[in-house]
Amino acid sequence: MQLSSLLVVLPALPLVAAETVLGTYIFHRHGDRTTKSYSPVSLTPLGADQALASGLWYRHQYLSANASSRIPGMATDLPVLSQLSVTSPVDNVLQGSAQVFLMGLYPPAGSAASQTLADGSSVTTPLGGYQFIPVNAVSTAASSRGSEDNLWLQGGSGCGNAVASSNSYFNSSEYLAALKSTQTFYQSLLPVYNTTFPSATASFKNAYAIYDYIHVSEIHNASSTISSAGLLTNETLHQLQTRADQHEWGLAFNSSEQVRAISGSLLAAQIVQALNNTLAAPVGKTSAQKMTIQFGPYGTFMAFFGLAKAPAASPEFYGIVDYASSMVFELVTNASLDDSAAAVSPDKVSVRFRFANGTASDANPPRAFPLFGQTETTLSWSTFVSEMNKFAIGSNEAWCKACGPTGACAEIAQNGSSVSTAASTDGSSTGGISTPVAGVIGAVVTLAVILGLEGLIMAVAGLRLTKKGKKNDVVRKTSNSDNGSNA
Ligand SMILES: *[C@@H]1O[C@H](CO)[C@@H](O)[C@H](O)[C@H]1NC(C)=O
Ligand SMILES: *[C@@H]1O[C@H](CO)[C@@H](O)[C@H](O)[C@H]1NC(C)=O
Ligand SMILES: *[C@@H]1O[C@H](CO)[C@@H](O)[C@H](O)[C@H]1NC(C)=O
Ligand SMILES: *[C@@H]1O[C@H](CO)[C@@H](O)[C@H](O)[C@H]1NC(C)=O
Ligand SMILES: *[C@@H]1O[C@H](CO)[C@@H](O)[C@H](O)[C@H]1NC(C)=O
Ligand SMILES: *[C@@H]1O[C@H](CO)[C@@H](O)[C@H](O)[C@H]1NC(C)=O
Ligand SMILES: *[C@@H]1O[C@H](CO)[C@@H](O)[C@H](O)[C@H]1NC(C)=O
Ligand SMILES: *[C@@H]1O[C@H](CO)[C@@H](O)[C@H](O)[C@H]1NC(C)=O
Ligand SMILES: *[C@@H]1O[C@H](CO)[C@@H](O)[C@H](O)[C@H]1NC(C)=O
Ligand SMILES: *[C@@H]1O[C@H](CO)[C@@H](O)[C@H](O)[C@H]1NC(C)=O
Repeated sequence: MQLSSLLVVLPALPLVAAETVLGTYIFHRHGDRTTKSYSPVSLTPLGADQALASGLWYRHQYLSANASSRIPGMATDLPVLSQLSVTSPVDNVLQGSAQVFLMGLYPPAGSAASQTLADGSSVTTPLGGYQFIPVNAVSTAASSRGSEDNLWLQGGSGCGNAVASSNSYFNSSEYLAALKSTQTFYQSLLPVYNTTFPSATASFKNAYAIYDYIHVSEIHNASSTISSAGLLTNETLHQLQTRADQHEWGLAFNSSEQVRAISGSLLAAQIVQALNNTLAAPVGKTSAQKMTIQFGPYGTFMAFFGLAKAPAASPEFYGIVDYASSMVFELVTNASLDDSAAAVSPDKVSVRFRFANGTASDANPPRAFPLFGQTETTLSWSTFVSEMNKFAIGSNEAWCKACGPTGACAEIAQNGSSVSTAASTDGSSTGGISTPVAGVIGAVVTLAVILGLEGLIMAVAGLRLTKKGKKNDVVRKTSNSDNGSNA
C-alpha cells in the first residue's frame, strides 16, 4: 500500500517549480544569560554557543554554495556589507548574541580574508580571518543624529498610551484573579527563593522575575546548591513558567487595546519596509539589501504574535519564546529569474513566516505557521502587506496618533501642524516625509521597538530611564521587577 502511494507521488516531484528565496527578515532573541535578579546580566558561554549555532544554521539555509534556499546574489563567504542590515539595542546580552550570530553567518574566512600589500607581504585579518560585520546599536545611531530625536526619546521614553495600557493590566480582573489564586503557591516556594524574593515580593506580581531566577538556576546550578530544591517538582516548574507566560502576555498584548503591543506594530512596519526594499531591487544587484537581522526581547515577539494572531495557529505562541529563538520572513517566488537585471514583479512574490522556538538547527528548523488567522503559510505579497498594515506603525503621524500627546508629539500637537512638516527643519520631501525626518523615523522606530517594552516595564515598576550605571542601581533595589530591555 505504502509503496504504491509512493509511486504516485514520485513522478510528480520534478514538476514542482523551484522556489527561490529572494531575501529574509530575521528577528532573534538572545542566547542563554544570567538571571535578571543580579546585575550585571551577561550572556553565558552557553548563550554564545546557541547564537553561533543559529547563525550557522541560517548560513547553511540561505548563504552556503550548497544551501537549500540560497539567496541569489548574496555573498557566500566574504560578506558584502550593503546586503546586510543588523541591529540590536545597546544591551550587552543582545549585542553579544548578534555578534556571535554573525560569526556563524560568516565564519572566519582564513586566507580568503587576506590581502597582499605593495611590498608583496600577505596579511590576514586577526583570529584566522575573522569577519567583522557591524551590529548597529540603535541608541548610538539615534544619539548621533540631531537633537530632534533626542527630544522625542527623552520626552517620550516610549509611548504614553502604551505605558498606560500596559499599566492597566495590573487593574484587570484577569490579573487580580491570578494574583489571588496563586498567592499560596508563590508563598509555598519561599524556602527556595526567600534570599532573593522575600515574602512581600513572592507573588504573581513578580511572576516573570521569579520564573527567570528559577529557570536560570535550573540550567546553571547543581541542584545541591539550590535550597529546598525538592520543592521544585516538574509540576511546580511548569506552573512557574506558565504563570510567567500569562503575566508577560498580559503586559505585551490586549486585543482590545492595540497600542499595548506598540513594539509589535513598529516591528511589523520595519519588516514590510525591509522586504519591500529587497523586492524593489533587481535580483542580480549584489549591493542590494537582502537580509535584515534584528535582535530584540521576547516581549516584542509576544506583541507581534498577538497582533498577527499567531496563537490562532498554535496556542504555544502565548508562551515566552526560548533563548535564541528566531522568526524569519522569507520573500519567496516561483518566477523565473532569468532576467537578473530586473526586479521580480510583486504579484509573483509571496511571504512565508517561520519560527524556531530556541536555537534553529536541523533538528529544530524554523517551522512555517499561518499568520493573521489564515490557513495558508505562504501569502501573496499584497495580502501579507495588507494584513501587516492593519497594525503596522511606520510613520511619525501614526506613532503620534497611537501614542498620544507625549514628548515630541505633544509639541507638534500644540503647534497644530502635522508631524512631517513640524518635525522637519530642512530637506526635500520624499513621499510626504522629509529626508532628515525619514532617517529619524528609522532610528526612532528601531529604538522604540527595543525600548518600547523597556520604557513600559520601567514605568510599570515606577522606574525612570536614567543613565546606564544609575539604572542598574535602581533596578537592583527593585529586583522583583523585570528590568533591562525585557530581553
Ligand atoms: C554543504 O557543504 C558542506 C561542506 O562544504 C557540507 O558539510 C554540508 O553537509 C553540505 N550541505 C548540504 C545540504 O549538502
Ligand atoms: C486602577 O483602578 C483604580 C480604581 O478603579 C483607578 O483609580 C486607577 O486609576 C486604575 N489604574 C490604572 C492604571 O488603570
Ligand atoms: C484588555 O482591555 C480591556 C479593554 O480596555 C479591559 O477591559 C481588560 O481588562 C484588558 N485585559 C487585560 C488582561 O489587560
Ligand atoms: C528562608 O526560608 C528558610 C526556610 O523556610 C528559613 O530558614 C530562612 O530563615 C528564610 N530566610 C529569610 C531571609 O527569610
Ligand atoms: C544559583 O546559584 C547562584 C550563584 O551560585 C545563587 O546566587 C542562586 O541563589 C542559586 N539559585 C538558587 C535557586 O538557589
Ligand atoms: C521531570 O522532567 C524531566 C525533564 O523533562 C524528566 O527527565 C523527569 O523524568 C521528570 N520527572 C518526573 C518525576 O516526572
Ligand atoms: C514599496 O516601495 C515602493 C517604492 O520603491 C513604494 O512605492 C511602495 O508603496 C512600497 N510598498 C510598501 C508596501 O511599502
Ligand atoms: C516555546 O517553548 C516554550 C517552552 O520552553 C513554550 O512555553 C512556548 O509556548 C513555545 N512557543 C512556541 C511558539 O512554540
Ligand atoms: C512554488 O510552487 C510550489 C509547488 O507548486 C508551491 O508549493 C509553492 O507554494 C510555490 N511558492 C510560491 C511562492 O508560490
Ligand atoms: C513648536 O512651536 C514652538 C514655538 O513656536 C517652537 O519653538 C518649536 O520648535 C515648535 N516645535 C516643533 C516640533 O515644530
